[in-house]
Amino acid sequence: MSILRIVFVFVVWSHNVRNSMANGVTLESVRQSLIRQEDTIIFSLIERARFPTNSPTYNESYVSTPTFSGTLVHFVVKEAEALQAKAGRYANPEEHPFFPDNLPPSVVPPYNFTEVLHPPAASINISKDIWDMYFKKLLQLFVAPGDDGNYASTAASDLVCLQALSRRIHYGKLVAEVKFRESPGEYEPAIRAKDRDALMKLLTFESVEEAVKKRVAKKAMVFGKEVTLNNDDNKGKYKVDPSVVSRLYGDWIMPLTKLVQVEYLLRRLD
Ligand SMILES: *[C@@H]1O[C@H](CO)[C@@H](O)[C@H](O)[C@H]1NC(C)=O
Ligand SMILES: *[C@@H]1O[C@H](CO)[C@@H](O)[C@H](O)[C@H]1NC(C)=O
Ligand SMILES: *[C@@H]1O[C@H](CO)[C@@H](O)[C@H](O)[C@H]1NC(C)=O
Repeated sequence: MSILRIVFVFVVWSHNVRNSMANGVTLESVRQSLIRQEDTIIFSLIERARFPTNSPTYNESYVSTPTFSGTLVHFVVKEAEALQAKAGRYANPEEHPFFPDNLPPSVVPPYNFTEVLHPPAASINISKDIWDMYFKKLLQLFVAPGDDGNYASTAASDLVCLQALSRRIHYGKLVAEVKFRESPGEYEPAIRAKDRDALMKLLTFESVEEAVKKRVAKKAMVFGKEVTLNNDDNKGKYKVDPSVVSRLYGDWIMPLTKLVQVEYLLRRLD
């Protein structure tokens, strides 16, 4: 057999293995998606870090229109979500708007997304917690103080960060579904007993979480360093502090994802 043929057979085989589970979602495909989403999150933070705090973006007295009261970032996120809803973004069960009330209907034909999740999943979201975590805790850790007037761009990059974080954290629904399908017997007693703590324990793997924290810190070093043509890259200077990225995962992304998983599993037998 030629090398090409061997490679082809392997690709087909691994493709089949990956899709051997119902609806093509496996623990491995979920894992690959989570790892890929790390890149999106880190790049979104790097983009936000281009701007200083720009506090008027978050000050209600900065925006004054008769039709809207709130901060500029609230305004930008709400309007962007309305536009993206028309373009069909929220027809995808992986997407969760921060401001779901009065979103306009989609103008595009519906795409038939495969139904992987148990239907009650649609009612689960922790968008409010993600919003509060981002603005009250995370932002001040990686953005320099100051004001350069780029408030609209600042709000636009906050939107990108928020959407990346929301997608990653709500991906917990899919994580929980594949884990449940792999070994339902392991989860059913805790689900029936509505035992959140027991579920949280079943979903916690400290060595895996430590590895994730290390990997995202390393990615932040690689993605966030100055690239020059000399070999003397200024070491130790990163666009976003790698320890902040590691903390973002350890303190917020992974715990919030597990919260989504627990909420999802509690309704898994409904
Ligand atoms: C918000 O803006 C107003 C008007 O410029 C200012 O007086 C106030 O101190 C600002 N609030 C904060 C929390 O920065
Ligand atoms: C959507 O996909 C499912 C599963 O592939 C199929 O059974 C169903 O008929 C499709 N529905 C539409 C409207 O195409
Ligand atoms: C998210 O949950 C809140 C309250 O828990 C609810 O008001 C909101 O409609 C939900 N959002 C979506 C997109 O389902």
